[in-house]
Amino acid sequence: MFSDKEVAKIREDFPMFKNSPKVFLDNAATTFKPQSVIDGVVHYYTHTSVNIGRGDYMMAYHTEQQVENTRSLVADFINANPKEVIFTSGASESLNLVANAYGRQHLKTGDVILMTKGEHASNILPWFKVAKMTGAIVEYVDLDDEGSLSVTNFKKAMHNKVKVVAIAHVTNVLGNIIPIKEITKIAHGYQAIVSVDGAQSVPHFVTDVKDLDVDFLAFSAHKMLGPTGVGVLYGKYEILESMETFYEGGGSNSRYDICGNVSYRKPPHKFEAGTMAIEGIIGFGKAIEYLNKLGMKNIEDYEQDLLKYMLKELNKLDNIEVYNPHADSGIIAFNVKGVFSQDAATYLDSQGVMVRSGHHCSKIIEDIIEASDTIRASIYFYNTKADIDHLVKALKTTTVENCVGLFI
Ligand code: ALA
Repeated sequence: MFSDKEVAKIREDFPMFKNSPKVFLDNAATTFKPQSVIDGVVHYYTHTSVNIGRGDYMMAYHTEQQVENTRSLVADFINANPKEVIFTSGASESLNLVANAYGRQHLKTGDVILMTKGEHASNILPWFKVAKMTGAIVEYVDLDDEGSLSVTNFKKAMHNKVKVVAIAHVTNVLGNIIPIKEITKIAHGYQAIVSVDGAQSVPHFVTDVKDLDVDFLAFSAHKMLGPTGVGVLYGKYEILESMETFYEGGGSNSRYDICGNVSYRKPPHKFEAGTMAIEGIIGFGKAIEYLNKLGMKNIEDYEQDLLKYMLKELNKLDNIEVYNPHADSGIIAFNVKGVFSQDAATYLDSQGVMVRSGHHCSKIIEDIIEASDTIRASIYFYNTKADIDHLVKALKTTTVENCVGLFI
């Protein structure tokens, strides 16, 4: 838990707070970067700038060591083994890899992929496609009207045909924290594997893949202070070892011959064809060092306190409707009554507050909250009560007339 003074000091590490006077409440989309991350990226381009895994010179070797150092930092961060950490371009690529490699290899006609209507498109669309290719069927677990998933409903939805459970640990519109550990235990009882979208959870609280016992976990660096273009797929080693590749190229194989026989390297390298975002991975290492220095438990406690404050203040406004009044994590979805969400967000921006609006890449959630689009305010540990006060003040004057005034 951080004091106001500590948060003020933390904010000094982020150049964006000096360069933009606006309040940033769109942290579920991406996060600001501390100077140490920016310096890590710039250092690579200024002092190294070479490829890895290919050059027989010291600079290539040292740069590769930095990439492998990030892999170890990521592994420790989620309590995995470094050889279970695959670098990708982001959570979306990680989830596509699970569906297209594991899914296409294992699913057959009549098998079931179980998910919820609260998933992000990146955790739904790859499975729709793989279901079409394999003859598998997508089914949904029932959620309550605030998007929560109960263990009871999950038990009801499980059956012997379910082979894959694809689910977010924290959903990206309503911020529900899903009981992954319990779900995994139940799914494994049916021999189904559990693939978790951790894009909105790993940045915000301690994640222990061994304790959760998940089979796959996907997340992005840029939602946890790191650069864009870098993500992670964690997979249990024994699954990765027998999993086929989905994406081919240099660096993933040890040899191939004229007849098309290919020997792949061991995981994680067999899934990392081509040149990776080396500077981004180095920057991601700096991001994890920064988060470790603050402590994930401190981050979680601070965000929970700020969430309670945000809910209390938003609930005082009678011109807005909050869709998750019992929000579990720092994501609140709401609308200003009678105002289209994207008009409201444009108006809020004119008042110095940046939030996301629309569908948030989650287009079937409207079955649950009965709203096709919403405004989403999402916090990180560098936000303050003053940021929330600024949002609330701007919301008080968010009217159709004021929104129209922006466009004439
Ligand atoms: N997945 C990101 C979001 O929910 C972009 O905003």
